[in-house]
Amino acid sequence: MTPRLSRRRFLRLALSGLGTAAALCGGGPAYAFLVEPGWLALRRVRVGLPGLPPHLDGFRVAFLSDLHRGDSVPLSHIARAVDLAGETQADLILLGGDYITGSAAFISSCAEELGRLYAPAGVYGCLGNHDHWTDPEIVAGELAERGVRVLRNEGLEVAPGLWLAAVDDVWERQADLDAALAKAPVGAKVVLLAHEPDFADVVAADGRVALQLSGHSHGGQACLPLLGPPVLPYLARRYPAGLYRVGPMQLYVTRGVGVVTPPVRFNCRPEVAVLTLACET
Ligand SMILES: [Fe+2]
Repeated sequence: MTPRLSRRRFLRLALSGLGTAAALCGGGPAYAFLVEPGWLALRRVRVGLPGLPPHLDGFRVAFLSDLHRGDSVPLSHIARAVDLAGETQADLILLGGDYITGSAAFISSCAEELGRLYAPAGVYGCLGNHDHWTDPEIVAGELAERGVRVLRNEGLEVAPGLWLAAVDDVWERQADLDAALAKAPVGAKVVLLAHEPDFADVVAADGRVALQLSGHSHGGQACLPLLGPPVLPYLARRYPAGLYRVGPMQLYVTRGVGVVTPPVRFNCRPEVAVLTLACET
């Protein structure tokens, strides 16, 4: 191990220890409100996919979701998440929806930051329930102006043999899986963006998708030791966070970048995920 890695590891352990110590010493609320919501993690996940073509082995996808730019999530936090995603030098960057909270006025500055994202295979996103609860046309339009294409019940080839599709929001009953997959070539590996993770049961039963990427849950924002998250939103209760096998497909659910009210995180750090696709027999 190099000295640089050792120092990095030491700092990580020290910060982790400080967070735990603060929580244990009665600073829990301050930690949950002031420290952890801004403490972004880079989560690296290997996703084994049976039948993945050899040329896609090692293909990397950076995945950010639930930025929730608004009164509780400053633009500087979005900027740090964008920087972190950029550092991964991923082949493809995907966004899982819920870009804003409360007002479509927040999308302009948020989209400007997201416009800094670059990946050789492109930057794409889907919409979430909060985008629909503000103004989905404005959200999608502002993102498109900054080079982030929002897919709503449609798909396209992003690399040879790799098809990206996205459904519109499930909670708002806008998702049309058949439309999203209509043009997917037989035999292509399909990655599906769907904001709400519990939609995976429907997708797995369909059988055409290899990997679904979702957010929405925020991992619960607070995870109690041994008990897990006491509160999870509608359509994120079966699959709250992490990598799952659901029938024939894989599902990755990110803890997300931002927060919603109450704007706390505890034992559930915000994250930028980078998924590495791997051939699996
Ligand atoms: Fe959501």
